[in-house]
Amino acid sequence: MNESLHKCDRFSGQINVPGDKSISHRALMFAGIAQGTSTIRGLATGRDVASTASCLKALGVEITKSAPDTVRVRGAGEQGLTRPAAVLDAGNSGTTIRLLSGILAGQPFRSTITGDRYLCRRPMSRIIEPLQQMGAKISSADNGLPPLEIEGGALHGITYRLPVASAQVKSCVLLAGLFASGRTTVVEKVPSRDHTERMLPLLGVVVEKEGLSVSVEGGARLSATDIDVPGDPSSAAFFAAAAAIVPGGRVRIDNLCLNPTRSAFFETLARMGARIEKTNERIQAGEPVADLIVSQGELSACTVDGAILPSLIDEVPVLAVLATQANGVTAIRDAAELRVKETDRIRALSESLSRMGARVREFPDGLEIEGPTKLQAATIETFDDHRIAMAFSVAALVASGETVIENAACADISFPDFYLTLRQLAGLS
Ligand code: S3P
Repeated sequence: MNESLHKCDRFSGQINVPGDKSISHRALMFAGIAQGTSTIRGLATGRDVASTASCLKALGVEITKSAPDTVRVRGAGEQGLTRPAAVLDAGNSGTTIRLLSGILAGQPFRSTITGDRYLCRRPMSRIIEPLQQMGAKISSADNGLPPLEIEGGALHGITYRLPVASAQVKSCVLLAGLFASGRTTVVEKVPSRDHTERMLPLLGVVVEKEGLSVSVEGGARLSATDIDVPGDPSSAAFFAAAAAIVPGGRVRIDNLCLNPTRSAFFETLARMGARIEKTNERIQAGEPVADLIVSQGELSACTVDGAILPSLIDEVPVLAVLATQANGVTAIRDAAELRVKETDRIRALSESLSRMGARVREFPDGLEIEGPTKLQAATIETFDDHRIAMAFSVAALVASGETVIENAACADISFPDFYLTLRQLAGLS
């Protein structure tokens, strides 16, 4: 399915976005290994989180849906997961395969986990190495690619210094640490998203944080709890960006997770010149949450590099689109991780932005984009990457002509109603 979009002359309204994807994966997994029944509300409705749910079901966790975004999870307990009858399928989801591998490494059975053709090209040696150090037996396809065959068993705690800033790797090691003997510590160079550290204590697990290191003790017991997942800032970013560049744009996004390890995109947007108001600030499920109003402004270029990258890594595609409308040269550097996301996002952005007439330079670790440019419509190859599809849908709203987003349904990975919501706000039929 392709989606055709064109320039709009307004962008306004109030929306809620689906529940945060990172928090939803963790809520399902942690509830799945807890004692008792947890209710999770506001669960992300996309295909990635459905992949986590179906893997957990295959491991013996009972999950029942009572509304499109509400589930009851009857946890198997720390010792209760059962050997899956078939290969576990993580679909397109890096978080599913990497976090679940940490849990699987500590189970007394053998399992195999794989994913779609895109996931099967993403590096897993970053989790295989620390899990092997903990005593796990894992084999993979060539070069550490999925499928992963995991012979779970007795693990011992380690101290692991993360070579790449990755919350997926950090969480994988900490989850394995729950099943290991002794203490497991992960030390980061720069902070990555900290949802695991925030959520585990809600289920009764002691998590010790000191500067950039985080530790758990093995043999922890998890108790069921109810979790209200706040809205996903990475999904909200597309609408905030559209409001910032469409003349007169203004959007209100309610109930948004604004955890500081996730909110750097909005801070950058404000720095570039969009007007942002935050109201109704509160704590929900251990996470800072607020309502956000974003209005259009005269945008100037910005530089994003160094330690800020992990806290806006998923927003780089839409940030690159914004940069085409900002005055000056926007530099996005130290972002080589983008090459191993759902697709090589640096390449995908550089090719498609150029096709729309943007002035772009590609680097091994990022992009420079000179704006402002009057974009022209183009046919956009998405490589089935949800964030590429959604970012170029935003670009289409300010481009002359009809932009065609190929295989647009990949937005379902994180946001099943994305095009409907975008069209409503933009007044497009
Ligand atoms: C995620 C962490 C990030 C992010 C991904 C979700 C998570 O990946 O890009 O979309 O839920 O932990 P890395 O940890 O590999 O950087």
